[in-house]
Amino acid sequence: MKAIAINASPKMDKGNTAAILRPFLDGMREAGAEVEVFYAAKMKINPCQGDLACWFKTPGRCAQKDDMEMLLPKLASADILVFATPVYVDGMPGPLKNVIDRCLPLVTPFVELRDGHSRHTSREGTIPSKVVLVSSCGLWEIDNFDPLLTYLKAICRNMKREFAGALLRPHCPAFKSMVDKGEPVDDILDSAREAGHELVRTGSISSQSLTTVKGRRDHQQARTGFHLCVLGVGQLRFIDCLHERRLQECESGVRRGAPPTALSGFPVNG
Ligand SMILES: Cc1cc2nc3c(=O)[nH]c(=O)nc-3n(C[C@H](O)[C@H](O)[C@H](O)COP(=O)(O)O)c2cc1C
Repeated sequence: MKAIAINASPKMDKGNTAAILRPFLDGMREAGAEVEVFYAAKMKINPCQGDLACWFKTPGRCAQKDDMEMLLPKLASADILVFATPVYVDGMPGPLKNVIDRCLPLVTPFVELRDGHSRHTSREGTIPSKVVLVSSCGLWEIDNFDPLLTYLKAICRNMKREFAGALLRPHCPAFKSMVDKGEPVDDILDSAREAGHELVRTGSISSQSLTTVKGRRDHQQARTGFHLCVLGVGQLRFIDCLHERRLQECESGVRRGAPPTALSGFPVNG
């Protein structure tokens, strides 16, 4: 089973997204998948020129000469595609959008009805792969991933791919700092690895693995994030320390199975 992962973070392996992507891909490899990773920041992939040459002049081939010549056949023939990306202004960083736009040669100008909706037909030789989203964001609430999720699911419907799930980690800079400091976050890393196993072995990811990766954030915590913002830059260092501690308490509370209400509140005054 062949898998292609594209990491769209400009920070590549040092980024927050990679902290979730790494164990997930390890799990896929352990389960027998052959995984190749590409970094959007390292590749030279220009924006689509919109000339539709890949449809009408040289069907299946883009006129531009850049790294997409190498990547496109891999995207066409992989069994699993993993798009790993930070949330950038409610979307994805530009280089990943370029990759996706430049996938147009994988479909034809012809249209068919699928599930009552007009969709372009796939070009011959393109595998209807499974697609996974791995994403991290800075804010607390899980709905910060909604625009990205909606977009990726739409791509799957239009390009005849199967959306197989999303590993989402909100408030990821704090999680990454816990990873870097060797704080106990093994349950989250293990769940990401287990998700990779499950995907390769069963073709899907269990909701338990997905839930553990994203953690549990209640509304009180979301308000806490807002408090952090309005308190002002001068207090940020102090608050950061408190917040880090609060996050650790939260994470360990989640591990102990404490209900979200027990994890709410924020010790702003010490
Ligand atoms: C240009 C830019 C835009 C961002 N936009 C959002 C956003 O809309 N929502 C959010 O929750 N986080 C946002 N973030 C925070 C990142 O998504 C977050 O820090 C992420 O974990 C970074 O991943 P990386 O280290 O793998 O690049 C943004 C960060 C940058 C640099």
